[in-house]
Amino acid sequence: MVLFNVSRVETTPFGDQKPGTSGLRKKVKVFKQPNYLQNFVQSTFNALTPQNVRGATLVVSGDGRYFSTDAIQIITKMAAGNGLRRVWVGQNGLLSTPAVSAVIRERVGVDGSKATGAFILTASHNPGGPNEDFGIKYNMENGGPAPEGITDKIYENTKTIKEYLTADLPDVDITAIGVTSYCGSEGQFDVEVFDSASDYVKLMKSIFDFESIRKLLSSPKFTFCYDALHGVGGAYAKRIFVEELGAQESSLLNCVPKEDFGGGHPDPNLTYAKELVARMGLGKSNSEVEPPEFGAASDGDADRNMILGKRFFVTPSDSVAIIAANAVEAIPYFSAGLKGVARSMPTSAALDVVAKNLNLKFFEVPTGWKFFGNLMDAGLCSVCGEESFGTGSDHIREKDGIWAVLAWLSILACKNRENLGGGKLVTVEDIVHNHWATYGRHYYTRYDYENVDAGAAKELMACLVKLQSSLTEVNEIVSGIQSDVSKVVHADEFEYKDPVDGSISKHQGIRYLFEDGSRLVFRLSGTGSEGATIRLYIEQYEKDPSKTGRDSQDALAPLVAVALGLSKMQEFTGRSAPTVIT
Ligand code: G6P
Ligand code: ZN
Repeated sequence: MVLFNVSRVETTPFGDQKPGTSGLRKKVKVFKQPNYLQNFVQSTFNALTPQNVRGATLVVSGDGRYFSTDAIQIITKMAAGNGLRRVWVGQNGLLSTPAVSAVIRERVGVDGSKATGAFILTASHNPGGPNEDFGIKYNMENGGPAPEGITDKIYENTKTIKEYLTADLPDVDITAIGVTSYCGSEGQFDVEVFDSASDYVKLMKSIFDFESIRKLLSSPKFTFCYDALHGVGGAYAKRIFVEELGAQESSLLNCVPKEDFGGGHPDPNLTYAKELVARMGLGKSNSEVEPPEFGAASDGDADRNMILGKRFFVTPSDSVAIIAANAVEAIPYFSAGLKGVARSMPTSAALDVVAKNLNLKFFEVPTGWKFFGNLMDAGLCSVCGEESFGTGSDHIREKDGIWAVLAWLSILACKNRENLGGGKLVTVEDIVHNHWATYGRHYYTRYDYENVDAGAAKELMACLVKLQSSLTEVNEIVSGIQSDVSKVVHADEFEYKDPVDGSISKHQGIRYLFEDGSRLVFRLSGTGSEGATIRLYIEQYEKDPSKTGRDSQDALAPLVAVALGLSKMQEFTGRSAPTVIT
């Protein structure tokens, strides 16, 4: 057994290590500064209870982006230095964010051990590579992101840190499955490298009826396409869709994980998932080839998802509502009923209508998956989702891209149970249209203004808050811009009191609520790494089934005009158009 010594290394604080919505995300060059990563990791260890450090088991892996393997070596040595008992690493350092959550909750090590937390190495949907982003976040024993109490403590620690602990271990081989043991003055330290997919695949098989999905995927009527955007989803796609469910290998796009995501932006939306969008017949060039019936994509760390039908886009807000409406019938895990459902505040109210109709507990939480986790731990929520292409359930404490794809495949399999032999296939578009016919449609769009001047963004938001003190004035402005939209009846900054732990989260986005149920929401992104990103969310409810088939940009044009005028978007940001529209 290799012997190791622990040393204390002197360091000085960095002023910019405040974790955002999902951990610390910065340019790689920032992370490469001497001691930068070490300071954050030590500050995290110092923020945890001693039993989650000394003698504990820690998962360390991520989406495989540039700098991940260096980071895994640094963290492993620091784990040994801090007296942890073992580190678990997915083979080649790969684990999707949902798989990490599953591993913390479900995996039992070769020696019967269980993990108490994880460092997830990802900047999610942000590009990767030497000039792009890296990120790190800590997840807790329940498999979910650290709560604000812990991330605040981490941040405080980063401001005063003086030293960190590390061991002089040799670099660990993370390419081969197996356990390597080392011996320090306080005892043994193990590194266990394990298959990245097995635990996750096992969990998925316990949730979904793989046999019925296999029937659907093997039917000549049904065609399928999945794009991992060169993210870590590719490490699961072949195992699940091809080996377990019998899809053709040719139905997988960009499924080899790459440290720079092939130079792309690994965010599954209509702008960045270009290849999938074209294959599904949604691009501008109308190819001769008939698009598949179903298409999906996931982001760098495979927690986000986009669902597409043939020439058809399903909004994430509709997706979670449709999954909730069909879960009990289509997914064995939910056959006993849903405990409740939840969405983030800017997500459309499509889920609210389902909850009301099915008499389900319903929660509206701030943006960020951790808020769902509390509800799930308390047994209050089964299915949840966000407009930002996140969908998931209480099987883990992260959103889950592949789970969402399997949920949709389950719904399609269920609706087509009788049709696969003969009869017309019920398509993704049919399912969405039928949903609108039953529950009404929430027209929805999001405008993003990326990397705008941070000061200007703050000013814009401050002006919108100030304006809220007089609804009369707001309505004068609104009717001056667009006379045919309804009246603003309420305006506020969203604030949330967690029903489980009583914590209060303030300033979670500025809302303008209209008499007819329409909404405008303005928020500053919490996940960017440069400048500020302003997000504008626009929503309008249409109950009349004869009016639910319009183009959403057309339907929302008057509200968009109001939002841009009210916020003086161009005046503050200098931008005449958003960077991305989803
Ligand atoms: C991450 C979180 C999501 C959240 C999203 C918001 O993906 O995991 O829960 O919805 O960030 O990002 P934003 O950039 O809008 O703050
Ligand atoms: Zn992600």
